[in-house]
Amino acid sequence: MILVTGATGFIGRTLVRRLREHRFKTRAFLRPTSDAARLGGAGVEIAWGDVRDPAAVRAAIDGVTTIVHCVGILLERHGQTFELIHVLGVQRIVDAARAARVKRIILLSVLGARPDARTRFARTRFAGEEIVRNSGIDHTILRLAVVFGAEDHFTNRFASIIRWNPLLPLVGGGRARIQPIHVDDVASAVVYAVLQDRFHNETIDVAGGEAVRLRDAIRAIAGVIGEHVRPFAVPSAAARPAIALAETFLPESPISREMVDLASEDAVCDVSRARDLLGLEPRPLNAAMEHLAAWRR
Ligand SMILES: NC(=O)c1ccc[n+]([C@@H]2O[C@H](COP(=O)([O-])OP(=O)(O)OC[C@H]3O[C@@H](n4cnc5c(N)ncnc54)[C@H](OP(=O)(O)O)[C@@H]3O)[C@@H](O)[C@H]2O)c1
Repeated sequence: MILVTGATGFIGRTLVRRLREHRFKTRAFLRPTSDAARLGGAGVEIAWGDVRDPAAVRAAIDGVTTIVHCVGILLERHGQTFELIHVLGVQRIVDAARAARVKRIILLSVLGARPDARTRFARTRFAGEEIVRNSGIDHTILRLAVVFGAEDHFTNRFASIIRWNPLLPLVGGGRARIQPIHVDDVASAVVYAVLQDRFHNETIDVAGGEAVRLRDAIRAIAGVIGEHVRPFAVPSAAARPAIALAETFLPESPISREMVDLASEDAVCDVSRARDLLGLEPRPLNAAMEHLAAWRR
């Protein structure tokens, strides 16, 4: 039995579908507030709970051999802090997994997770990784680049903004480089990691085949939906006070200073280990954005 946490998320949904196609017995760990309908029907067991709740996590892990942990947050909202979700949540999973003698954990993390990262987001991701690395349980940690595909948080968000307004303010002019990977390629890498018996306890960078500047990726998105976009540079020093105000006064600010800091840094890597260890053959961004057709006028 494979337990997928974060199963209603963008990556989790694709992964659950793929695991079902491979006929794995799959259990999804959902919050009481999660929309189970997003999993698209039968074939998956459901365990209810929150990663912060040890009893619920223990119950969900009962009888499980492999865990794919896909819970993560980009914005701190509703009492969910990076420390609670990326560190304590992972600790809860590892504690329960150890007690239940789970054979393998696959943790989805992010490119740039490191102890001295500029953002708490990336530092807490590293702390979560460390808990898994020191768990004594066989594990694979996948550090993902930005992920795209139908219903993603990246290409769809920019497509909706561009349709509304072609003038796009970008911190640092969108010069930072990204290396987007398609969600189906991520799902393939995870399934590969689940099935493999060849390597153990690896942390692997997983990204698309080409590094592009954020502004060029946005131009490509605009091209696919038949719009023009005119990105212009906003200095981080100017953006941060406005965003700080939004974070303070809006109940749900759509952006945070952490996100600005993250977007100002390159998030690229060498994918040769992912090719060797996970059989990754990433599809190019430009050839895999048909999901954006819905945004064309
Ligand atoms: N998408 C990307 O571009 C990207 C890039 C790099 C790394 N990653 C990492 O990959 C993982 C999956 O990303 P994603 O894009 O699929 O994220 P997502 O769409 O935001 O989904 C997050 C999932 O976590 C669940 N969740 C949140 N808080 C929870 C809690 N306290 N207890 C239990 N479940 C909780 C959510 O449940 P609800 O349905 O109830 O909200 C949802 O299923 C994350 O760790 C993310 O950081 C993603």
